[in-house]
Amino acid sequence: MSRLSRDLAAGLDSLTKLVLSQPIDGTADPKVSVRPVFLRGGRYYQVERFRDNKAFHENLDGEQLLRLMESELDGRYRQALLVTERESAQYSLKRDGSYKRSGAAAVPRPAATGGNNREKRYLLPEGEAIPALVDLGVFTPDYKIVRAKYDKYRQINRFVELIDQAFRDDGRKELTILDFGCGKSYLTFILYWYFAVKQGRQVKIIDYDLKADVVEHCNAVAEKYGYTGLRFVHADVSRDSLYGQRVDMIVTLHACDTATDYALHYAIEKGADYIFSVPCCQHEINLQMKKGGELDVFLRHGIVRERMAALLTDEIRTLVLEDMGYSVDVIEFTDLENSPKNLMLRARRTGRRSEKGRTLAREIAGRYGFSQTLLELTKE
Ligand SMILES: C[S@@+](CC[C@H](N)C(=O)[O-])C[C@H]1O[C@@H](n2cnc3c(N)ncnc32)[C@H](O)[C@@H]1O
Repeated sequence: MSRLSRDLAAGLDSLTKLVLSQPIDGTADPKVSVRPVFLRGGRYYQVERFRDNKAFHENLDGEQLLRLMESELDGRYRQALLVTERESAQYSLKRDGSYKRSGAAAVPRPAATGGNNREKRYLLPEGEAIPALVDLGVFTPDYKIVRAKYDKYRQINRFVELIDQAFRDDGRKELTILDFGCGKSYLTFILYWYFAVKQGRQVKIIDYDLKADVVEHCNAVAEKYGYTGLRFVHADVSRDSLYGQRVDMIVTLHACDTATDYALHYAIEKGADYIFSVPCCQHEINLQMKKGGELDVFLRHGIVRERMAALLTDEIRTLVLEDMGYSVDVIEFTDLENSPKNLMLRARRTGRRSEKGRTLAREIAGRYGFSQTLLELTKE
């Protein structure tokens, strides 16, 4: 058994990653990486092999991994990197077929949570091997966050944390999720990676966006990494026909203006159990609102009017959702400094219906002379 295999066996319980590169000949896969995953309540190891620009995954238990190492991998790669929770070391293959270990260093303990943003421990920490995010320009090739994408990365981490909290005790193994106005789909790729690759659930995510080129690119990245449960669809969510079967969850992150209303309406119609929606560009009411009562005081200055109209829009959405069988929290999902568009409507289906909220919302809409898409869409 080589030094590399021995060290792998000794550090298996605290393995963070193993990367084998520079194969000795063309019969071996160009690169193989291994990282721990938690499946069916146990610790497994996901082996990722890159072949013809595609990633192939296999989940093995500890013994299977050591057997694979011995029978197929050991001695066939010139370079290896082995990282455990305690230390990281590099290995180079010598002429006699043994490995020389070098550059061993203790792995620093993670910084405490809180304080400076850069010290915060994220659910998806920097350095986690999520190769699709390299293609999407969020990670550098060595899985560091691209500086310009740092705010987005923080938002998405928080988004996934909130979803994770909701699903922690839920126990469902299969998840169907729709993302409305997905754009470059950082959120979707991370959600897919987190639930399908890391947690081993059966995940189907369908994403809609108006931009054909972005949709095409996202489909190509999903295909490259073998993310078979991910599909990106070029569609206008306000008029095209969308996925017709049961869905577990609807997400929107900054879907423009009324695209959010169509997403919420779709969730209501399909009885989605969860909604996580961060609205954006709530122009609809602002463009129509006339003087009509106590709210006139908010109509005197453009910026105040705009903010009030955005808050009123989201409050009407909340009233409608509550009437249509959801319990809703409105939370700041990230801090204002990270994004001014930081209100999230977090809803869970209860099935309890009412008319009260919509009656109030209609009365306000009538008095101030506007119509609101979700209110209109849920007219009975
Ligand atoms: C501000 S971007 C947000 C993208 C992504 N969710 C994110 O957070 O990075 C809004 C996206 O919504 C899409 N969008 C707006 N209206 C839409 C509609 N009616 N149907 C589908 N997509 C829409 C736009 O094309 C755009 O990509």
